[in-house]
Amino acid sequence: MAPKILVIPGSLRTGSHNARLAALAVKELALVEAEVTRISLADYPLPLYDADLEARSGVPHNAVLLKRMLAAHQGVFIATPEYNASVPSLVKNTIDWISRVRERHEAPLAMFKHRVFALGAASPGGFGGMRSLLALRQVLEIGCGALVIPEQIAIARADQAFDDMDNLKNGHLAATLKAVVRALLDAAQQMA
Ligand SMILES: Cc1cc2nc3c(=O)[nH]c(=O)nc-3n(C[C@H](O)[C@H](O)[C@H](O)COP(=O)(O)O)c2cc1C
Repeated sequence: MAPKILVIPGSLRTGSHNARLAALAVKELALVEAEVTRISLADYPLPLYDADLEARSGVPHNAVLLKRMLAAHQGVFIATPEYNASVPSLVKNTIDWISRVRERHEAPLAMFKHRVFALGAASPGGFGGMRSLLALRQVLEIGCGALVIPEQIAIARADQAFDDMDNLKNGHLAATLKAVVRALLDAAQQMA
């Protein structure tokens, strides 16, 4: 059975480079016959994490829905922007809320430990979001106990990196994305 892969762009911006990267990852995943779902975090609005709010009202329903969405897939690809040399609050806040969801007496963070993550970043800057990739890897691996594959993609000068068909102009980067997708699929297969 083909592994199920969830693709999440970490930006809500119209014309987002990371949404473009996510769309291209979906295309590449479909080519290697993964079963792919792409979501937008705009469909799961969440308040800023606040422990008092959680104590009063519990974890927001959208965090529960997102956690279940992740749980229904063996692999997850996150395309993250870089803000101030780190992961944007949208991505971090989403992970923070999801990490608070407990269902059916699950062990803390159980969902993160039973699936595999791959990361990508796109930035108009020269580092290609590399520092955001490192920060997000730390959050997922060390904070949440997730398996994050070593293969990743950082797209520098993202405003000039895509052609009219939304493919990567640079052959090396295009090959890197294919390698990331292949490695994610292989690792997710082990989880299926
Ligand atoms: C608050 C803020 C901080 C930013 N800091 C960085 C940064 O540290 N490094 C970087 O490469 N780009 C930085 N950027 C530029 C983003 O990479 C750029 O806005 C990018 O287009 C965001 O991703 P998106 O196109 O997917 O929305 C920053 C943007 C904002 C709004």
